[in-house]
Amino acid sequence: MNDDILKVLYSKQDIDAIIKRLAGEISRDYAGKNPLVVCILKGAIMFMTDLVRELDEYVELDFMDVSSYGNATESSGEVKVIKDLDTSVAGRDVLIVEDIVDTGRTLSYLIKIFKTRDAKSIKVCTLMDKPDRRIKTVEADYVGTQVPNEFVVGYGLDYAERYRNLPYIGVLKPEIYQN
Ligand code: XMP
Ligand code: MG
Repeated sequence: MNDDILKVLYSKQDIDAIIKRLAGEISRDYAGKNPLVVCILKGAIMFMTDLVRELDEYVELDFMDVSSYGNATESSGEVKVIKDLDTSVAGRDVLIVEDIVDTGRTLSYLIKIFKTRDAKSIKVCTLMDKPDRRIKTVEADYVGTQVPNEFVVGYGLDYAERYRNLPYIGVLKPEIYQN
C-alpha cells in the first residue's frame, strides 16, 4: 500500500464487483441502443474504461474536461469547460460517466448544457456518491457506492494530481493535506 494512504475503502476486487453490477443494469436499460458515453476527465477515466468493456452493446465514447474552481479538496460554485465534446449530443442517448458526485454542481451543469444541446436522453453513472455534501438537487441514475464525507483518492481520483494510478480507492493521511 502507498505510504500516504490511511486506509483502503475499495480494493480492485471491490471495484470490479461494483462495475459488474452497474454494467448489468446499464446493458439491460440500453438494450438495442448505442449510447454516447461521455467520460468526465480526468477522474472518471479508469472507471469508464473498465465499465464499457463490460457492456453488451457497442457504445461511442467522448470526453469532456470540466473544472470547478477552488482549492484541491473543496470545489467552488463555478464550473468551467476545459475541453468540450467532439461529438454532437443532439438526438443521442447520453450516458455521463463520473468518478464521484459531491456537491452536485458539476453534474447539474453538465445535464443543463446537454439539455440545451437537445440530447434525446441524459443519464448519469457515477462510481461514488457523497450525498451528505449535496448542494444541487441532482441524482445519478446508476450509483456504484455511497461514500462518507472523506476525501478519497486512487483509481483515477487525485489529490493535487497525485495518486490517480493507485489500483484501489483510499483515504489520505491527514498530514498530507497539512503540508
Ligand atoms: P461536485 O462538487 O461538482 O464535484 O459534485 C464533483 C467533482 O469534484 C471532485 N471531487 C473529488 N475528487 N476526491 C477527489 O479526488 C474526492 O473525494 C472528491 N470529491 C469531489 C471530482 O473531480 C468530482 O468530479
Ligand atoms: Mg471529476
